[in-house]
Amino acid sequence: MRTALIIALLAQTLPGETPRWIGSGACEPCHRAIFESWAKTGMARTSGATGDLHQKDFRHEFRDGRGVWTYEVSSRAGELAVRAYKANGMTAGTKLSYFVGSGSVARSYLTETGGFLYEAPVAFYVRRGEWGLAPGYERYASPYFARAVAPGCLECHATGVQPVAGTQNGYASPPFLEGGAGCERCHGAGSVHARTGRREDIVNPARLDAERRDSVCEQCHLSGEVRVPRGDMAEFTAGQKFADYAVAFSRESSPARMTVTSHVENLAMSACRRASGEKLWCGSCHDAHRQPAEAEKAAWYRSKCLTCHAESACPEKPARRAAQADNCIACHMPRRRVSDAAHVVFTDHSIPRRPRNEDAGGGTVNRDAPLAAFGERSPGARDLGLAYAILGAREQNATYRERAFGLLESANRSHPDDPQAIAYLADLYRQRGEDGKAIPLYRELMRIDPGQSGAPAALGAYAMERGEIAEAIRLWRRALEISPALPLVRVDLAMALIRRGERDEAREVLGKALRFTPEFPAARQLLDQLR
Ligand code: HEC
Ligand code: HEC
Ligand code: HEC
Ligand code: HEC
Ligand code: HEC
Ligand code: HEC
Ligand code: HEC
Repeated sequence: MRTALIIALLAQTLPGETPRWIGSGACEPCHRAIFESWAKTGMARTSGATGDLHQKDFRHEFRDGRGVWTYEVSSRAGELAVRAYKANGMTAGTKLSYFVGSGSVARSYLTETGGFLYEAPVAFYVRRGEWGLAPGYERYASPYFARAVAPGCLECHATGVQPVAGTQNGYASPPFLEGGAGCERCHGAGSVHARTGRREDIVNPARLDAERRDSVCEQCHLSGEVRVPRGDMAEFTAGQKFADYAVAFSRESSPARMTVTSHVENLAMSACRRASGEKLWCGSCHDAHRQPAEAEKAAWYRSKCLTCHAESACPEKPARRAAQADNCIACHMPRRRVSDAAHVVFTDHSIPRRPRNEDAGGGTVNRDAPLAAFGERSPGARDLGLAYAILGAREQNATYRERAFGLLESANRSHPDDPQAIAYLADLYRQRGEDGKAIPLYRELMRIDPGQSGAPAALGAYAMERGEIAEAIRLWRRALEISPALPLVRVDLAMALIRRGERDEAREVLGKALRFTPEFPAARQLLDQLR
């Protein structure tokens, strides 16, 4: 009797105890059925170490678009690797350590060098059943291994991501504690609940208010054309509001362009959501623990439609054969044409009366259209300014940069300690030749956010202009500690080292540049001169 009481007392939450992350495996003993079906979903399998992926050895080859480089992907004894070579004997290659994407459309790979992660230049395209260049890599003339993997990428695809502070793409080993979207991404840290088994000690999205409930899926499914951080997304936990951590922007004119809007934005356009409001959410049609089998889909989704619509609601029904008429999604949530791209809404979540013609209307996009925040009528100058600045830089859009400039100047006046605003404002001043304003901002940025390579890289260039070679070398070395690839910084650093007669150091810096991008002309020429 007394022991039972003591156990019962021990099982209670200790006052003020903060739940810790314990991993999905710890939920399995008490929630076995959910665990087993969840483990089969794309979300659960969306990332991991490549060692677990290929049982059999294989070797595949393909050429780049110019027919110059041949890429060989091979798996031997569980080790997956890529090697690129060309006729003149030049080669480059690396192990593929991690994968991203369960493989419903495409699978990306990550490489690891000295604790830093980079995207691999190759990807596997599931529909074609073929290896090819990763999306966006056609534009490089030679193999490119220098694209840093920012923590955001893994935060949407893995659980318990472990970035190293003060770096841009450095990670502890292993870089994430669990592959895929683990239980606690949607339910919050579970240490207390796993001990007590009490429902008060765990988050159930279905019991949250609509904004917090939707936020659980939005942390990964709401991206817009650009996502502006407000806080540290890594700290987001189920039960909080997405809007406190980030805000998604898209071009106002994008009519229902399926390629650019995320599932959340797409669903928000539907008459169903607009008319039924918060009642309709992702969980109205999807079970996060289970993906319906192909044969089951028509009936599965039909039953969801019929929670709101009467069978007689559809005027088309009498005209069709029963089986066809029952497949509501075949007509109202059609899939787009076959595509290889990741981050595309394939199924039209705007639930139109009649299938929209993808080519009609949306043909030409106004690249300069104003940006609008999802779910917010008047985003502040800081958020809007950053949205224009980030897209302006990504798309080389001068109009967006100009809009960003005024907004960020005023944001910086009211919040002079915001590292993101400083970073983009400093770059804008630099592009406009206003160096006297850029330099103090870069210095401030190095002080408040030592994990951004852009500031020391730019300050190094300014120091070089003033003839302060030692200072430039110090700053560029600092930039490379934060993010070791940076091929352009490596070339600048090598030139500075050569001017000081430090030829061996220059050779080493250039050699490493060529490991990230083997044909980089500026680096090759300098290295040839050194020989
Ligand atoms: C020791 C057994 C045990 C473990 C381990 C456990 N649970 Fe539970 N869980 C329970 C029990 C029992 C309930 C039902 C509680 C009730 O209905 O009052 C429950 C209910 C839940 C609920 C529903 C809460 C609600 O509001 O209805 C969720 C969500 C949940 N668990 C998630 C998890 C997650 C995630 C983990 C792993 C981090 C986990 N559980 C680990 C025993 C456990
Ligand atoms: C931690 C990030 C994350 C969270 C949180 C998340 N998703 Fe996902 N979801 C993904 C990723 C990544 C994929 C792509 C999986 C793949 O590689 O196939 C995905 C895929 C899906 C799919 C396609 C089927 C599948 O399982 O692959 C559905 C449906 C889905 N999510 C619904 C939801 C719903 C509903 C919620 C909220 C309750 C949610 N997701 C929360 C990251 C997340
Ligand atoms: C904001 C969250 C987010 C970020 C950041 C993100 N992804 Fe995704 N990714 C998703 C979601 C959600 C899906 C599935 C649904 C979709 O495409 O919208 C997905 C799908 C994919 C797929 C296709 C999966 C499949 O099974 O076919 C690949 C590959 C992929 N992402 C790779 C990456 C890589 C590599 C990065 C970083 C360099 C990245 N993603 C960054 C959320 C994200
Ligand atoms: C992508 C988000 C997501 C992931 C990952 C996830 N869940 Fe859930 N879970 C939900 C949502 C949403 C609900 C509420 C479903 C409803 O009632 O509409 C839920 C409900 C539950 C419930 C209570 C209702 C029920 O179905 O019995 C339990 C228990 C639970 N989850 C356990 C788990 C466990 C254990 C894991 C990992 C093996 C897990 N969940 C992974 C989103 C998720
Ligand atoms: C949460 C309730 C809810 C769910 C679930 C739901 N709808 Fe709706 N839907 C509505 C409401 C409310 C309207 C607006 C009033 C109406 O036309 O009945 C609507 C409107 C529509 C329209 C008219 C669109 C237009 O532009 O005029 C179609 C078509 C439709 N729904 C199809 C579906 C299909 C197919 C499903 C299942 C995949 C579905 N709905 C699921 C609530 C819902
Ligand atoms: C009215 C029902 C409905 C609602 C609500 C809904 N979905 Fe879907 N979703 C579908 C259907 C139907 C599919 C296609 C399933 C298939 O073909 O396998 C789908 C597919 C997906 C996929 C796979 C990629 C694709 O585009 O085919 C993802 C990811 C997804 N939904 C995420 C979400 C998210 C996130 C939400 C909430 C913002 C949501 N869905 C709300 C019905 C719905
Ligand atoms: C063969 C294609 C097809 C199938 C299958 C189908 N619909 Fe429709 N549905 C249509 C078309 C076309 C319209 C628009 C008719 C019009 O504009 O006059 C429509 C209209 C609707 C509307 C709007 C009605 C109104 O008065 O505004 C709803 C709601 C709807 N469908 C729901 C459903 C549901 C639920 C299912 C599954 C039980 C379904 N539909 C199956 C083609 C289809």
